[in-house]
Amino acid sequence: MFPSSIRTRLTLWYLAVQTITLAAGAVVVYGLLARSRFERIEARLDVAVHVSASSLEHEIQEHGSAALGEASFRGVLPTIHHLTFPDLALAVARDGVLVAEKADSDGMRIPAAAIPTATAALQARAAPPNGTANWSDNGWRYAATRVRINHDHFYVFVGGMPEREAAQQTLAIRNVLLWSLPIPLLLSAAGGWWLARKSFAPVNVMMDAVEGITASALDRRLPEPASEDEHARLARTFNHLLERLESSFEQQRRFMADASHELRTPVSVAHTAAQVTLDAPHRTEAEYRDALEVIEAQMQRLSRLVHDMFLLARVDSQALPIERSKFYLDEVLDGCVRAARVLAKTRNSSIEGEAWNESPCCGDESLVRQAVMILLDNAIRHSDDGATVGVSLTKTNAGAPAREFYEITVSDTGPGIPAQAQEQIFERFFRLDKARSRRAKTSGGAGLGLPIASWIAKAHGGTLRLAESSERGSTFRLSIPVDGVSAT
Ligand SMILES: Nc1ncnc2c1ncn2[C@@H]1O[C@H](COP(=O)(O)OP(=O)(O)OP(=O)(O)O)[C@@H](O)[C@H]1O
Ligand SMILES: [Mg+2]
Repeated sequence: MFPSSIRTRLTLWYLAVQTITLAAGAVVVYGLLARSRFERIEARLDVAVHVSASSLEHEIQEHGSAALGEASFRGVLPTIHHLTFPDLALAVARDGVLVAEKADSDGMRIPAAAIPTATAALQARAAPPNGTANWSDNGWRYAATRVRINHDHFYVFVGGMPEREAAQQTLAIRNVLLWSLPIPLLLSAAGGWWLARKSFAPVNVMMDAVEGITASALDRRLPEPASEDEHARLARTFNHLLERLESSFEQQRRFMADASHELRTPVSVAHTAAQVTLDAPHRTEAEYRDALEVIEAQMQRLSRLVHDMFLLARVDSQALPIERSKFYLDEVLDGCVRAARVLAKTRNSSIEGEAWNESPCCGDESLVRQAVMILLDNAIRHSDDGATVGVSLTKTNAGAPAREFYEITVSDTGPGIPAQAQEQIFERFFRLDKARSRRAKTSGGAGLGLPIASWIAKAHGGTLRLAESSERGSTFRLSIPVDGVSAT
């Protein structure tokens, strides 16, 4: 099984790579040394055979004949040359017959069999005159050369030395390599382990910190290292994630608290109305009717609330599909204004709208209708009785690259929205004046209309803005792209 800790795995990888590299290096070094181990011996042998060749040539020339020269050389070789080359044995042969020889410092001589071997080796390698042939035999290394002196006889000079020393050196080097390899390997494994441990230390600290973070302790953050390395980036990214999570949890918590509060009110009002009515044994029909009207109004409010909350829940879970189709925005607006006039009548308000140009549009017709209705509903319900609501539809070019938008403007003559609350009105469950909203005879608002309308605009790639608001009234502007390309 492969170890599960990254630290151990890294160390093992590091060790494996180091082992392969060092072993390959050692093999190469050893190979090169093994190949050149005879080079030094051969160089000495080469010099020795050539020096003795010139020495013989000199003797023959000095004595005027081969026989005399050879006789003198027989004395020179074991004496003078032994001083120069004490550690190697030399033998000289003419036509296969030994002429002179010298032993090495151990008294070892060139074996008689080496002469024919040298002759064969020189012939086999087609060695040029004065060229050298080398070979090994029975633990010895040999070098031989063939020289013709005075255009007369061919002499073969053979030098030999035990290989023992070179072999011992190679063996020593091999042992040094073998024994020295584990030390750097151990050092590098320890270094790798230390490095991995040091590198992962911040991760361990972060893991400990993460373990302490729960849904109820989302305000905790990971310690951010001062460096600019990957760990710092990881901690920062994680902290950003925590921030987003915390704010989304907080939003959810607020939503739940607001939602339960809003749901409780109509339920308790209906419950009380029913209880009070049922408490007395007999009630008139008018009293029952009144109670049922209260209950019906609360149920209506409740059902609208549940519908809006369900819609927002689907928006949050991205489970609300945009069903795009082609439709005429002017017709939708027309329908909305007609429906809103029914509500306006109850408040003695009026809705003014011109005859709009034909406005073909693409998007989710029922969602666009809902957004317009939310604006009209607000304009009527949040204005005083007898207010005037104006509706207009225009086409504009905006954005980069320029795109065509339909702009629906809904303005009223209501009390307006204070500057500090203008941002908040788009938040869920936000109401400027809760008492004022409930004043309406129809169901009281929960503060979900504008967030829904705002989402509908965004889902179509458009916007919903409070264009203007003062004590003389407010103007909301809903922009929807003509081609209705969805931004979600
Ligand atoms: N035209 C307007 N004039 C004055 N105040 C407004 C207007 N439109 C919205 N508001 C303020 O913004 C708040 C939020 O509006 P929103 O439509 O989201 O909720 P609501 O109308 O109170 O309830 P709901 O729409 O869920 O029935 C309102 O309670 C109101 O105080
Ligand atoms: Mg509303």
